[in-house]
Order: sequence, then C-alpha cells, then structure tokens
Amino acid sequence: MRLLPLGMLFLACAAQAADPLASGRQAFKRCANCHQVGPNAHSNFGPQLNGIVGRRAGTVPDFAYSPAMKKAGFIWDEKRLAAFIHDPDEVVPGTRMRFWGLMSDRQVRELVAYLRSFPAPAAPARR
Ligand code: HEC
Repeated sequence: MRLLPLGMLFLACAAQAADPLASGRQAFKRCANCHQVGPNAHSNFGPQLNGIVGRRAGTVPDFAYSPAMKKAGFIWDEKRLAAFIHDPDEVVPGTRMRFWGLMSDRQVRELVAYLRSFPAPAAPARR
C-alpha cells in the first residue's frame, strides 16, 4: 500500500487549490491563540476579529482594550492591518498586543484576505 500516502497528499493539495483562503486560514493559526473569527467568535485573550476590515479600532464591547487601542480612533483597512501584523507597536504605540510572527508580505496578504471573509455579525453577540 505504498501508493496510499501519495494519493492522500494529492487529495490534500487539490483541496488546498480549490479553497483560495486556505493559506490565509493556515496563517491565522498564529493569531488563533488569542483571537477568534466566525459565527461563535467571542473575545478571549484578544478581541474577536469578525468584520475587522472596516471596523473602528478598539470598539468590541466585550473586550478590555489598552488605553492606546481605545484612543487609536482609526478604521482598520487592509493596509493598516498588514502594518499592524508586521509591527503592532509601530501602528498603535503602547498596544498590549505582542506578536512577532515574522510573516512574509504574501502571508500577510493572504491572512488579511481570510479575515475579510468574516463579515461583522448581524446582531451584537449574545453572551
Ligand atoms: C499573544 C496574543 C495575541 C496574538 C498571538 C495576536 N494578537 Fe491581536 N491582539 C491581542 C490583544 C491583547 C489585543 C488588544 C490590544 C490592545 O488593547 O492594545 C489585540 C488586538 C488586535 C487587533 C485590534 C482589534 C480591534 O478591535 O481594534 C487586531 C486587528 C489584531 N489584534 C490582529 C491580530 C492578528 C491578525 C494576529 C495574527 C497575525 C494577532 N492579532 C495575533 C493579542 C494577540
């Protein structure tokens, strides 16, 4: 049965190609210790990230932000997110988020595309 593992590898690659967000989902594993996305996402060690592209910084109601993030005031767009992932403190000096993921530009782009696929929840999360 030496062919079996090869066949499985092929299937895994085919699945990856069929899902354009797969590499972004993979990259998000680096964030998932602290952040959640999806229908049941809630804030944990970090704020939930549904609808983050277009969301005002520091405004998830169930998360206690640092003073720096609370008064940041800007709206997250793709450029700002990419810069923040590269160096959180550069974009929001004094932020409590510590991340040294050392991602390539391509990984960051794929990750932001993945985050984009989670729109803001229609109703405020029930707890
Ligand atoms: C070790 C935990 C941790 C990891 C890993 C982490 N974050 Fe965070 N993140 C935080 C915390 C804590 C905050 C809140 C920071 C503050 O209040 O200053 C935050 C805030 C954010 C915000 C601002 C959210 C808002 O509501 O304004 C974004 C965007 C974000 N993180 C994205 C990411 C992404 C993308 C990754 C993965 C590349 C990541 N984070 C990895 C802990 C983490």
